[in-house]
Amino acid sequence: MKLNYPELFQQACYIDGEWVAENGETKAVTNPSTGQVIGEVPFLGEEQAKQCVSAAQTAYEKWKKTTANHRADVLRRWYDLMIEHIDDLATILTLEQGKPFNEAKGEITYAASFVQWYSEEARRAYGEIVPSHRENGKIVVTKEPIGVVAAITPWNFPAAMITRKCAPAFAAGCSMVLKPAQETPFTALALAKLAQEAGLPKGLFNVVTGDSYAIGDVFTKDKRVRKVSFTGSTNVGKILMNQSASTIKKLALELGGNAPFIVFEDADIDAAVEGAMIAKFRNAGQTCVCANRLFVHDAVYDEFAQKLAARVMQLKVGDGFEDGVSIGPLINQSSVAKVQEHVDDAVARGANILCGGLLDEEKLFVAPYVLTEMNDDMLMATEETFGPVAPLFRFHDEQEVLERANDTEYGLAAYFYTQSLGRAWRVADELEVGMVGINEGLISTAAAPFGGVKESGLGREGSRHGMDEFLELKYMLMGGLDR
Ligand code: SIN
Repeated sequence: MKLNYPELFQQACYIDGEWVAENGETKAVTNPSTGQVIGEVPFLGEEQAKQCVSAAQTAYEKWKKTTANHRADVLRRWYDLMIEHIDDLATILTLEQGKPFNEAKGEITYAASFVQWYSEEARRAYGEIVPSHRENGKIVVTKEPIGVVAAITPWNFPAAMITRKCAPAFAAGCSMVLKPAQETPFTALALAKLAQEAGLPKGLFNVVTGDSYAIGDVFTKDKRVRKVSFTGSTNVGKILMNQSASTIKKLALELGGNAPFIVFEDADIDAAVEGAMIAKFRNAGQTCVCANRLFVHDAVYDEFAQKLAARVMQLKVGDGFEDGVSIGPLINQSSVAKVQEHVDDAVARGANILCGGLLDEEKLFVAPYVLTEMNDDMLMATEETFGPVAPLFRFHDEQEVLERANDTEYGLAAYFYTQSLGRAWRVADELEVGMVGINEGLISTAAAPFGGVKESGLGREGSRHGMDEFLELKYMLMGGLDR
């Protein structure tokens, strides 16, 4: 690995401002493109997770008393360092996650944008004065940081899913203990290194790698942790929610999705094809907002299918460091097996493959699929595939497609293409999701609230609403005022 600043590659946890590389058990991290080991991180457990919480609690007591201006300045320095080291951060990210280098740079820019956004938002945690119900009283509402936050983050966005949580937490005056995904710890540790250099005080940001169960247990059950923020599967989200019940923690859960992508008969088909390319194939289809079911009106079905397949066949699959590659490997064998299972199931029930296939049994590369003649009995209609497969379902009218789009326990994102203004409002209103792309295939930005309804989760990340997730309201009634 060639880095301009080699210290960014840390094979140690970051606890209470120290880099901890104990001589005990370690866990190897592999490059999904080559299968080669990149490095090792400590495999820590309950004891070190508790140390992280203690450090975070101590740091919080001081940090919450700093001025908003101070917190804003520290975050701004962190943002500047992320941009300065974008190539190194993206190199580490591509090595451990597999996404193409340019896409990894895009993710670092996206990750940094949360730090930038909340460096600005830090100054705006306004309270309010409410007209009182008493003649001699005043109602004052203030916002206070919630306290120690525990974050558990996924491998699909090893940088952005961290900053989307910790930047608003630090801006609000909270501290954090973080367990990054075991597949992608090095990006998290590189971010911590830059946070340290930006002047985040010791103990404010702790990164621990190791035993998910033991660490998750401490994060969800320790009374000093006041909030758990998790991005990952709905099943794990339910477990964390259960475990957090005993201490009534505030929760932010950004869980699975089953996004519909609807192409109406009045859509600009070329724009819809471009939108589908990004909504479906970003990060090789491994995002929770990925279009999982593409519903196409009968009148434009064949045209859309042909144009989409023609675009998809141009995508180059390979190692993320190779020129021109836009689809990297999947993260592991079980992801490849799930894609295979979903495609086999669809074909057995009558689907056609326009393009796509497994490239190598041994490796994790999958040539992106376009499947036609899908129906609602197939696995892909109800389960998230999390891979580069675009399944095209045919529909005939608006009401029918809305019912089918909403017929899922998930409610994260939805996309649709139409040129009718009335339909745009009508359909957006009826979709049971937290986010809607209207004639847009990419909806993610620091400026907007990201999150879902139903079993896709709780809470919002990004925008000014993302900051409120880390603040508690305190209401004070001042009575007996001499007026
Ligand atoms: C995710 O897949 O969890 C996040 C995707 C995004 O932020 O766009």
